[in-house]
This record gives sequence, C-alpha cells and structure tokens, in this order.
Amino acid sequence: MKHKTGFIFDLDGVIVDTAKYHYLAWKKLADELGIAFTEKDNERFKGVSRKRCLEILLEMGGIVASEEQFNAWLIEKNKDYLDYINTMDETEILPDVPKVLRYLKTKNIPTALGSASKNAKPILEKVNLLSYFDTVVDGNEVSKAKPDPEVFIKASEKLGTKPEHCVVFEDALAGIEAANTAGMTSIGIGDAEVLSNAKFNFVDFTEIDDNFLESLLDRVSTND
Ligand code: BG6
Ligand code: MG
Repeated sequence: MKHKTGFIFDLDGVIVDTAKYHYLAWKKLADELGIAFTEKDNERFKGVSRKRCLEILLEMGGIVASEEQFNAWLIEKNKDYLDYINTMDETEILPDVPKVLRYLKTKNIPTALGSASKNAKPILEKVNLLSYFDTVVDGNEVSKAKPDPEVFIKASEKLGTKPEHCVVFEDALAGIEAANTAGMTSIGIGDAEVLSNAKFNFVDFTEIDDNFLESLLDRVSTND
C-alpha cells in the first residue's frame, strides 16, 4: 500500500548558503570577546539554536555572563547576521534546489521547511522560494533544538504525514540525528564523512536526479 509522503528541508546550508553568514557573525562576536573561533568550531553551531550557539561560544571562552549581557550578545549577533541577510537574493540559492522543489510540486508531494532559524521565513521570501512550501516550522515554533526531533515531528504533523513516510534533507550532524530519531529517511547534504549517519549522502542537489527521487518516493511511501 502507498502512503502519503512528506519532504522536509532544513534551510541554512541546504536551501541557501547562509551557514557562512552565521559563521561570520559569530566570528565577529568571538573576536570581540577574545575567543578563538574557527570554521571547524562552527560545525558544532550548525542546526543549533541561536541561544544554544551562544552558550557553546561562552563555554569555549570560559565566560560567565549575566542574563542581560547574554541577551545583548544574542541581539548583537543577530543584527550582524541580518546585515548579511538583507543583501541576499536568488543567486544564493544552492545549486539545483529549485529543480528538486519543482519536481516535488509537479508530483503534488507535500513539502515543509524544518529549520532552527527564527529568520527562516524572511530568508525564503528574499530568495523567492516561500511559495514552494506547504508549511514552515521554524525556530519561533520549537522549544527543543536539534538533535531533538521536535522540529521535524511538528512538520510531519502539519503535513499530515507519518514520520516513517517523511524524507529530511539536512547539512548538520544534529539535524541528521534529529531526523533519524524521528524515524524519518535522512539525506545528508554536504560532507559524507561528517554526515555518515545519514541514510543517503550527496554533496549537493546537483547529484540528485529524477530517478533517485522516484525511487525514494517509492521506498518511503511503502514503509510500514
Ligand atoms: C540553523 C543554523 O538553521 O539556525 C544555526 O544552522 C543557527 O547555525 C540556527 O544558529 C538559528 O538561526 P537564527 O537565524 O534564528 O539565529
Ligand atoms: Mg542547516
């Protein structure tokens, strides 16, 4: 028997190349606080909420902050991040993402965004992709950060699809863990070594063709 399937996409690092802007904004704050922060350190920040990222950064620097100071740094980081985001346009959509979204639209497959970011909707609007998604679950709606599966479970509920009939595209280790814990089919986009616990791995969407999507749909819709 074939079940209704749902495709869930992470945003940062999957749909748009915003991971570099998050890094630059955190790096600026880290420099101000005298904390060494590299792109490798930034891997731990991928998929992780803004608040949790700052907690990790301060732990790295051995800094204890008052609640007021903590919140001020959160605002400062987001302001710097938004300065980058405000200049974004469609050229920052990652390669072949529209191809896959269009394929799913022509097949009437429900799609959701499942992101830890509180800036998800404005970013999708900026790059003109909001209309491709039937629903958006973002950092404003979830209380537990990835690797907790809350964001993906909420997305599957909103789509009216059971977790075992959902596919998740993710670039973060925490996101793959969240998808696996939710019982969904995880697809790692990026470095296969970092994302080795994904069910399938691709460097980017240029490696995903209609044949693969067809077989994926077959496989996921018949999961019992
Ligand atoms: C995730 C990013 O998508 O969103 C994280 O991978 C980021 O790096 C998180 O910290 C929260 O984003 P925002 O836009 O709410 O600060
Ligand atoms: Mg991501």
